[in-house]
Amino acid sequence: MSLVGLFKGNGPNGFGYDTTAEQVTEGLDLSGQTILITGCNSGLGLEAMRVLTLRGATVLGLARTKEKAAEAGATVPGTVVPYACELSEPESVRAAVRAILDDGHRIDAMILNAGIMALPKRTLKHGHELQFLTNHLGHFILATGLLGQLTEKGRVVVLSSAAHTTTPRGGIRFDDLSLEQGYQAWTSYGQSKLANLLFARALSKRLPAGQVANAVHPGVINTNLGRHMPGFAMAIFGTAGRLFLKTTPQGAATEVWAAVHPDMATVSGEYLADCNIARSSAHGRDDALAERLWTVTEELVAAL
Ligand SMILES: NC(=O)c1ccc[n+]([C@@H]2O[C@H](COP(=O)([O-])OP(=O)(O)OC[C@H]3O[C@@H](n4cnc5c(N)ncnc54)[C@H](OP(=O)(O)O)[C@@H]3O)[C@@H](O)[C@H]2O)c1
Repeated sequence: MSLVGLFKGNGPNGFGYDTTAEQVTEGLDLSGQTILITGCNSGLGLEAMRVLTLRGATVLGLARTKEKAAEAGATVPGTVVPYACELSEPESVRAAVRAILDDGHRIDAMILNAGIMALPKRTLKHGHELQFLTNHLGHFILATGLLGQLTEKGRVVVLSSAAHTTTPRGGIRFDDLSLEQGYQAWTSYGQSKLANLLFARALSKRLPAGQVANAVHPGVINTNLGRHMPGFAMAIFGTAGRLFLKTTPQGAATEVWAAVHPDMATVSGEYLADCNIARSSAHGRDDALAERLWTVTEELVAAL
């Protein structure tokens, strides 16, 4: 057990900080299940895809290009159907939705995993701050476009982060969503991750009985997500990582647990961490904020 794992201990279900995606799926036969994952070519998404295919699931693997998704798919043990989905390009996301609909896939779980973090400079695309566009708006278009394909007991898993607590005042800056005033890398990432969390919460209230939606903090893991962080910070991260961070197999565990574990079939609207139910910030539990964000997001994506 790691130092942190030892300190935190396991949750009531016996899983915890150190649990890996393989451990959380031990004994599960996922053959016949189809699971969609965004960001399937790197970090947690790639590990989740590896373990889900290992257990027999067919994975719809989404990456910025079909080539990237296919290359990643070729490295894992089972069946991967690759799709292009560049989340910061609404037309690419809508094309991915059309392609998946045309191919007629029914989906047992969607893992909205892709993300970018802490861009040093405010970057705009289609008039939106790039983390908000990629992490939240792109996934909103994708998931809402595919809800009709979810099976009766289908699950939606949205990657949030403990960074959802590092938000601008009010949680979501509805008066300045693209953070024109006082852009900061971490609060901007935090706003997008709070949006992911609130999306899962609002979605859980809209899904028919039987379907569930939850948000996940995977832990802190040294993946390509740190690509925009300064070199010195990454060096510290790399050194600290060996002692204090989760490994990638541990980082992928909570999203995989939420997507396929039988215990999670009826849990909905929750924030999950270390393969257990966790407590988010007050903003993360604010249903009025979640509803307002849903309405605003619908207006924003209609204009994209
Ligand atoms: N690692 C952590 O410590 C940590 C902590 C909390 C939350 N999370 C969350 O966990 C999720 C997975 O992160 P990770 O650590 O596995 O990071 P990662 O290794 O950087 O993987 C991120 C994935 O997202 C994809 N992606 C980024 N921008 C995209 C876009 N515009 N369109 C389509 N795909 C895009 C990347 O594709 P490319 O490789 O082509 O860029 C990559 O496949 C993220 O949502 C992140 O916010 C991670």
